[in-house]
Amino acid sequence: MFKKITRRQVIKIVSGVALLPFTACSTQLKPSKNVVFAHGVASGDPDQSSVVIWTRVSGLTTPVKVDWYVATDATFKHVVSRGIFNTDSDRDHTVKVIAEDLEPGETYFYKFAVEDSISANGQTQTLPVGHVEQLVLAVTTCSNYPFGYFNAYDAIAKDASVDLVVHLGDYIYEYGVDGFGGEMGQRIGRNHQPAHETLSLDDYRKRHAQYKTDQGSLAMHARHPLIVIWDDHETANNPWMGGAKNHQLNEGSWEARRLASLQAYYEWLPVRDPVKISDRANYWRHYKFGDLASLITLESRHTGRSKQISYNESLPDIQSNKQAQEFAKNVINAADREMLSKDMQHFLKEELNESVSAGRRWRIIGNQSVMAKSIAPNLDDPILNNLRNKLNLEKQQKLVERTHLGKYSLPSDLDTWSGYPAARERFYDIAKDANVQDLLVISGDSHSYWQNKLFDENGQSMGVELGATGVTSPRSIMESLGGEVMQCFDELNTANNEEIIWSDGRHLGFIRLQVNHKGARGEYVTVSNVESRTYETQVLRTVNIINQDGLLKYE
Ligand SMILES: [Fe+2]
Repeated sequence: MFKKITRRQVIKIVSGVALLPFTACSTQLKPSKNVVFAHGVASGDPDQSSVVIWTRVSGLTTPVKVDWYVATDATFKHVVSRGIFNTDSDRDHTVKVIAEDLEPGETYFYKFAVEDSISANGQTQTLPVGHVEQLVLAVTTCSNYPFGYFNAYDAIAKDASVDLVVHLGDYIYEYGVDGFGGEMGQRIGRNHQPAHETLSLDDYRKRHAQYKTDQGSLAMHARHPLIVIWDDHETANNPWMGGAKNHQLNEGSWEARRLASLQAYYEWLPVRDPVKISDRANYWRHYKFGDLASLITLESRHTGRSKQISYNESLPDIQSNKQAQEFAKNVINAADREMLSKDMQHFLKEELNESVSAGRRWRIIGNQSVMAKSIAPNLDDPILNNLRNKLNLEKQQKLVERTHLGKYSLPSDLDTWSGYPAARERFYDIAKDANVQDLLVISGDSHSYWQNKLFDENGQSMGVELGATGVTSPRSIMESLGGEVMQCFDELNTANNEEIIWSDGRHLGFIRLQVNHKGARGEYVTVSNVESRTYETQVLRTVNIINQDGLLKYE
């Protein structure tokens, strides 16, 4: 738990509720012996005095009252808060309680019951206040069910040093069994449910339900509180305000699909609901860890983002360096291309100011897609050419398709911040206005590890970026062209980009990020296997970061 200096908590009793030994205390509307908590328990979105606790009741179609308990000990002798939550099919029988009046920086245990059916125990903690010596985050992203077992989650569950899990999105994937990951799902018996691409509320609910049955997911959520943001696949691949790359006209209304996916998200994840349903997409937070760190999370998918520029449409017209540079300047770098909504930007500015005036040592930004400038490398490289000759014709063709971008020095991926350079500068301007140049950005989405430096367009240092690889989702080059090509691509990409110090698309896992008042340490922890539940972990790389006169540097 947080290393901190605080007084031992005083146990509080929720007003009007007598402390009793742990037994079910409510009268059920429809008691059933079939009630099970098949999706486990979870907690998250904590603040200094409260935390969301979550479960889901299976086996019922009727409304049910669920007892919940929060205690200071795992045996539930010291229950400090308890109550009854009514759930029904309108919320897919999910249960979400904000356990309040808790002490800051303390560990709590929680459980749920419907008559004699009792859930697993969950463990959670509130955010600390005052002096905090150390914070350990497990940074995860891109957990795709058919691509494998969530062994990274399992490893995190077993890591007692972790204070909180931060999931940077792609918590579920929308594809059907014939989509991304489908072949692997077939091979290892983890086919997506429902079998088709998720479109309706019922589809998204079923998909969330399936993901919550993974053994690693059950273990991680029961053991650690969660801070989570969504990326694209919680709704559909590469969305923007008015649609998504993976939403077609014959799939119905984009707005209806988006709302359905967000409703299921709020039902199935331990996060606080917005006051108004119409504010569901406005999902950003500032988590404060005493005097040590701020963690500010971004929403960059549904509320402000301009449509992604498509290379499919643009590239055929680019046949010279001059045309490419004009395209980069006039189209990609157009000033009105946005990533964050005005409300999100306002929140960011206010909270960065608050973080600075509170004197916190670290400003961590929970971000979706990779922020560092990334220009595609020239793939006309002797080593890569050698490897290319070993590939079959279909694979060779895939590699040829990638060479065009590097030839004209264009960004690799226009869905990342490199596809929105003007918006990235606005993000940096907000930080500079708050006297912040020590951003510690943590990013998901890419299915690769990253160690990056960040600079604004004038070369001013803005901080560093650590990118987390997938829990199971592989990098597409890795999946289609193999490890040797991936390694070569990573090396060429690093050599080609000043801001990228290292990247690795060959491994799966998570980042263990530890911050204290002297520095931060990021450990890139890999899992050896996702095709079965047997695996080992290894620290692939460790980076140390120090804050020197308000600027972040790698040691
Ligand atoms: Fe992903």
